[in-house]
Amino acid sequence: MATIAVACPRKRYTNRQSVCEVNSMDDYLLRIENISKAFPGVQALDDVSLNLRPGTIHSLMGENGAGKSTLMKCLFGLYSADSGAFYLDGKKVRFKSSRQAMENGVAMVHQELNQVHTRNVMENIWLGRFPIGLAGINHHKMYKATLEIFEDLGITSINPKAIIKTLSVSQRQMVEIAKAVSFKSKVLVLDEPTSSLTEVEVDHLFRIIFNLRDRGCGIIYISHRMSEILKISDEVTVLRDGKLVATSPASELTIDNIISQMVGRELSSVYPPKDNVPARSCWRSKGCRRCIKTFMMYHLICVAGSSLVSRDLWERVGQKCLRIFLGWQRPNPVK
Ligand SMILES: Nc1ncnc2c1ncn2[C@@H]1O[C@H](COP(=O)(O)OP(=O)(O)OP(=O)(O)O)[C@@H](O)[C@H]1O
Ligand SMILES: [Mg+2]
Repeated sequence: MATIAVACPRKRYTNRQSVCEVNSMDDYLLRIENISKAFPGVQALDDVSLNLRPGTIHSLMGENGAGKSTLMKCLFGLYSADSGAFYLDGKKVRFKSSRQAMENGVAMVHQELNQVHTRNVMENIWLGRFPIGLAGINHHKMYKATLEIFEDLGITSINPKAIIKTLSVSQRQMVEIAKAVSFKSKVLVLDEPTSSLTEVEVDHLFRIIFNLRDRGCGIIYISHRMSEILKISDEVTVLRDGKLVATSPASELTIDNIISQMVGRELSSVYPPKDNVPARSCWRSKGCRRCIKTFMMYHLICVAGSSLVSRDLWERVGQKCLRIFLGWQRPNPVK
């Protein structure tokens, strides 16, 4: 597991808005304006806007299918938005590929990590832009450049030559963040980075995120974990069914507020009250008891009847009369 040397206390950053106040629209690091995107049969995004300030963590929340990943993939050049615009440092941008987005300072760590498992760490970071020397790829230079980034981020226990498939999920996520840093990203999008991490790994990841934020990087953070959102975010935007619900300072929100915005109604309680009355067993129901009694009675009369009259007569006449009497068999119609 990676250990991070950067000291950054975990606390709620309630007064950070004043540090990052913006005076004009162009002071925003990233502006997402009126983005719409439809897939066959589903309007994934409908007129969604979001503004990201430099040096802040902006959380994006919503239920499954709300459109969070789609919005970020439109920014990152993986999908093409049907309408709307993105402005990076005040300039309109429309990336045609993720490579173009990264070269312009926008990086994204995806929900499903997209790495070459059989290649090593440094090759994954510098894929497509290996340093070339006289004898081909300059592995020494690549190794040194990777170590520099790791030192910068305080990642001390990942060997740049380790094969990706031998690393834990959290280490692989750190490699992706190191890749983002190698592109000198101004905007970093993290899509559900903590869904499969332990608490200790989450702590390490947060220290790296805080480190980047404190250098002025703007971070868009997608997660379903409410408590962690309130702890690390400066602002929170909630999407519902592809539509923008609200953007609010995290300091003004509670977990209940966020859930209400996500589901679209006030919650009186997260969990319904319990009455603690045990359910009645089927065996104890009146109908079941009557059924058992009738069957036992039938059985008893059958045994008694067959011992009183001849077996043949009893089977032909006696049992039939008894079944008709109990309502189990209909009498033959009179001809
Ligand atoms: N490539 C695609 N083709 C068709 N429909 C898609 C595609 N990608 C997303 N969608 C649909 O768009 C809607 C938004 O999906 P999206 O993945 O953005 O949601 P999300 O908020 O990221 O959800 P989750 O929390 O589950 O990751 C969903 O209805 C989804 O089924
Ligand atoms: Mg998603």
